[in-house]
Amino acid sequence: MPLPTPHPITGLRSVAITVEDLPATRSFYRDLWALDLVTEERDRSYLGSGCPSNYVVKLRRSSAPGIELTTFDVRDRAGVDLLFERVAHGGAKIIREPGDRGDLGGGYSCLFFDCDGRPVELATEVEQRVHRPVERGESRPKSLSHAVFNTTDVDRSVSWYVEMLGFRISDWVGDFFCFLRTGSAHHIIGLVRSAHTSLNHVSFELNGIDEFMRGTGRMMRAGVQPLWGPGRHGAGDNTYAYFQEPSSGFVMEYTTALLQIDEEHGWTPKVWGTTPEENDQWGTANPWDELVLAKMTPATDPALWTPPSM
Ligand SMILES: [Fe+2]
Repeated sequence: MPLPTPHPITGLRSVAITVEDLPATRSFYRDLWALDLVTEERDRSYLGSGCPSNYVVKLRRSSAPGIELTTFDVRDRAGVDLLFERVAHGGAKIIREPGDRGDLGGGYSCLFFDCDGRPVELATEVEQRVHRPVERGESRPKSLSHAVFNTTDVDRSVSWYVEMLGFRISDWVGDFFCFLRTGSAHHIIGLVRSAHTSLNHVSFELNGIDEFMRGTGRMMRAGVQPLWGPGRHGAGDNTYAYFQEPSSGFVMEYTTALLQIDEEHGWTPKVWGTTPEENDQWGTANPWDELVLAKMTPATDPALWTPPSM
């Protein structure tokens, strides 16, 4: 069944992360990463950014760090129902059929596992949060930009997102890293061939280049050095500064100025190389090396094939 245009998925809404040391991880995201602490419950914390999304990061205390859930925003209920029908028909393992969301902000959603076992939610009609917009020069994240996932079979994973959820391929790096979009943003997910199926990184959008550099500098002044960056990618043309959250070990990115694709003028995916000129246009980043690779390739995610705690 063809998907309507524009695509029902409008963006990456939130990620839910399990962590061992909830106070330490919460402190990183609130006090260093500059997210708002929206609310707390016994074993979980919800953090928001400068956008109406109810939260962008949910932290839940658990015995091991994992990506418990990735949630995408969908335009309306018809979009949730249509996409659910496609994944169910395609043989995806279903966690919950479309219905009341049962999470902070309510709404309507469905949940299933992607082909690698990552829990995925498609959500709509979630209450908006009264938030403070990011002002000029302010170095706190505006919203989520994208998430990149490691997978042991990148071709299969890319095919799954294209065929089941209608993602479009924007670009590749070699034959191992694929950027995918649903709208004009060059990518809202990336899939990369890896030794483990796990999280590569989650990226947060800053207001502009100035705010991006101020945010990067604020982290450095606080004693957190970038794992990689600051720099500007070739594929996607976005800026990057990657930091490792010390408690969970997950890598987070500040970014801005991601390429916007105008579908009406057509787009031909390009295959990028891995030269420094292609992955660091400005020539400002430290060399990408085995240490960076290792940090972005944590062990197999323990949350795979596990329904999330809502
Ligand atoms: Fe990224």
